[in-house]
Amino acid sequence: MPSHLLSLADLSYADIINLLDTASDLKEKRVRGKTSGALKSRTLAMLFEKSSTRTRISFEVAMTELGGHAIYLNYKDIQLGRGESVADTARVISRYVHAIMARVYKHETLIELSKNSTVPVINGLSDLEHPCQLLADLLTIREYKGKFKGLNFSWIGDGNNVCNSAILACALTGMKMTVACPEGYEPNREIVEKAKELGGIVNIIRDPMKAARNADILSTDVWVSMGDEEEYDQRLHDFMPYQINSKLLEQAKHDVMVLHCLPAHRGEEITAEVVDGPNSAVFDQAENRLHVQKALLLKLLS
Ligand code: CP
Ligand code: NVA
Repeated sequence: MPSHLLSLADLSYADIINLLDTASDLKEKRVRGKTSGALKSRTLAMLFEKSSTRTRISFEVAMTELGGHAIYLNYKDIQLGRGESVADTARVISRYVHAIMARVYKHETLIELSKNSTVPVINGLSDLEHPCQLLADLLTIREYKGKFKGLNFSWIGDGNNVCNSAILACALTGMKMTVACPEGYEPNREIVEKAKELGGIVNIIRDPMKAARNADILSTDVWVSMGDEEEYDQRLHDFMPYQINSKLLEQAKHDVMVLHCLPAHRGEEITAEVVDGPNSAVFDQAENRLHVQKALLLKLLS
């Protein structure tokens, strides 16, 4: 295992399988009420520059259920918000806690944190990637499909942070990735190159119907990510043809699973009938954040 998790590409296929196996085991034990004190007296600092429901709660519950503790830090409430440097913040926080999870606007902030931290730094979402989300997605896919190799994973919409991590997840696990996005909203070029170096197949096309054809997995995310609010009207206009709806679903395999990292905007990137319909796995996907992050914390903190 690497010492930090900033990108999904920090993990090997073996690391991923190992994390998913631990996560499945912890999930099954949780149902039986079996807890672990493995992270007793350990503290996770959770630094947030942006809003969160799932990431914040699942990390905090994960630490509690492993016998440890988590501290929520909104950047505005600490001296970071008044101009203390990211480097000094990392140097100081890592003297107190055993790991730092951070959700930031700029991916460079995570790199700066990790360079100056003596404890593991976990990417809780940046403008470039959302690796913890994709670990949860992979666990969900394995639960529903029982495999990765050869599956067709189609992303419809914005080539954003979640899409970038999905591209790497597909490359690492042998799924074929197709991204359908409007011009100007392509995924990060370096990530696509990295995925190809890893042996991944990545097709970036314009036609969402074509992308959905024969898909085993259809995934999307909001059209306006945190930080993109100024482009709201333009984005709503540009993404209108990229909605996951029943017509698009008809193109996919009959047992296609629909993923969305949530929060969802029903009527924008996905219709209510799809996200709340029989092919949707979104709430299992959200639950799995807890289990994979427990596994991750155990690996990074052990
Ligand atoms: N999917 C996800 O990261 O959700 P939050 O923004 O609520 O943490
Ligand atoms: N792409 C979205 C994901 C939210 C979990 C954002 O960055 O706002």
